[in-house]
Amino acid sequence: MTTEPASPDTADVTADPRLGARASGPLTGTVRLPGDKSISHRALLFGALAEGRTTIRGLLEGHDVIATADAMRAFGARVERHVDSAGEAIWTVDGVGVGALTEPSETLDFGNSGTGARLVLGIVAGHGIAVRFDGDASLRKRPMGRVLAPLDLMGARVCDSADDRLPLTLRGTRDPIPIEYRLPVPSAQVKSAVLLAGLNSPGLTTVIEPEPTRDHTERMLVHFGARLDISQDPDGARRIVLHGRPRLAGQAVTVPGDPSSAAFPLVAGLIVPGSRVTIGGVMVNPSRAGLITTLQEMGAKLTLANEREDGGEPVADVTVEAGPLKGVEVPAERAPSMIDEYPALAVAAAFAQGTTVMRGLSELKVKESDRLAAVAAGLAVNGVDVRVDGDDLIVVGGSGRVAGGGTVETHMDHRIAMSFLVMGLASETPVLVDDGAMIATSFPDFVPLMRGLGADLGPVSDWPDTAPAGEPGA
Ligand code: S3P
Repeated sequence: MTTEPASPDTADVTADPRLGARASGPLTGTVRLPGDKSISHRALLFGALAEGRTTIRGLLEGHDVIATADAMRAFGARVERHVDSAGEAIWTVDGVGVGALTEPSETLDFGNSGTGARLVLGIVAGHGIAVRFDGDASLRKRPMGRVLAPLDLMGARVCDSADDRLPLTLRGTRDPIPIEYRLPVPSAQVKSAVLLAGLNSPGLTTVIEPEPTRDHTERMLVHFGARLDISQDPDGARRIVLHGRPRLAGQAVTVPGDPSSAAFPLVAGLIVPGSRVTIGGVMVNPSRAGLITTLQEMGAKLTLANEREDGGEPVADVTVEAGPLKGVEVPAERAPSMIDEYPALAVAAAFAQGTTVMRGLSELKVKESDRLAAVAAGLAVNGVDVRVDGDDLIVVGGSGRVAGGGTVETHMDHRIAMSFLVMGLASETPVLVDDGAMIATSFPDFVPLMRGLGADLGPVSDWPDTAPAGEPGA
């Protein structure tokens, strides 16, 4: 049986797209989270590039990942959603093999998804096909030059883009040149694009990363049968060598819970007085675990239990209890391991005692929005003392008290929306976000899941008692 996933709750926001959150009683309970977004994208991509069937459990059914599934169908892979007897969704991908994708007849629309667009640019670079890429207004603003530069060295050509932004057409080559590429920015998307192009290259493709980034592509390449040699250079950089033209074979993949989505209930559980929240099966891969380290340094009551391996990734059940947090300095070297978690960390910092300095956040400026600016603006409009100093974000904590009362501009960014809704759960006055629709890109069940823990949040139009004009607390 094949059924598309039900439309996500947060996509129902029609007339008034605003969501709001207000002070809530203790949050309590145990939840499981949607599958990791990075791994979900990769499972579909590798499934399409493998021969035979890949079976994926726990796939994130957010809009970003669905766009990747649609793209793989457009390349000739058969991608289906089934439901097993226990009601669990299982996705299957019948792949076509490395080098054998066919040219789609239509433009591929990646919506809001930088990961989908950049990784598929890498795949197309290694095929003798021309593909037009497009996305929403947020994705059209994001830099693609960082992946197009190495792909150009491998022989792929951009046909029609003035400024290395979408929409653009990439013409790949069926004989990509094997290159050695040192990442100029710490980006797992750039690393992955080069490795994916290198899959169809006759020689060795080498990526050198001075700062380690998430390693899901490497893990999954090995899982699907590719040969990778990973070593450390004398200067400490990580050297990844891929042997080209492997025969990838379809695999079973279990997608663990997304630590980037876990950030929201975790921070909520820390700042809402009296809370105790457990999140089961969170991926704790060290290349993604910077937020856990930082929250522990802030004095958070956060414990990991039942540490185990699931689908080739370390996972654990994470429990938090509300309590005082203290300001810390977060070093720039930690940024790649928590790059998507800074908006949630900034919210935790707003409730801490003392100042939190988050260093080296230049990469935050090129996410779904300029997150450095969006976080600072969102905190300021809610009465938090915040400053941006170059690439550093400095938040002066309110020792458990944040005024709230502001409406945050999300700039089509799901993580800005969720972070500030979490803030509203412990603020003195409700916090609104101007548009909650983008939450469905990564965490379609965010609102019902948080409500299940006791959070008072949702569409502003549901708050007639306090908001004749839709402004709770006004
Ligand atoms: C991702 C890498 C990161 C991250 C994004 C997912 C991935 O981006 O922000 O949400 O799956 O490879 P960069 O590679 O641009 O740092």
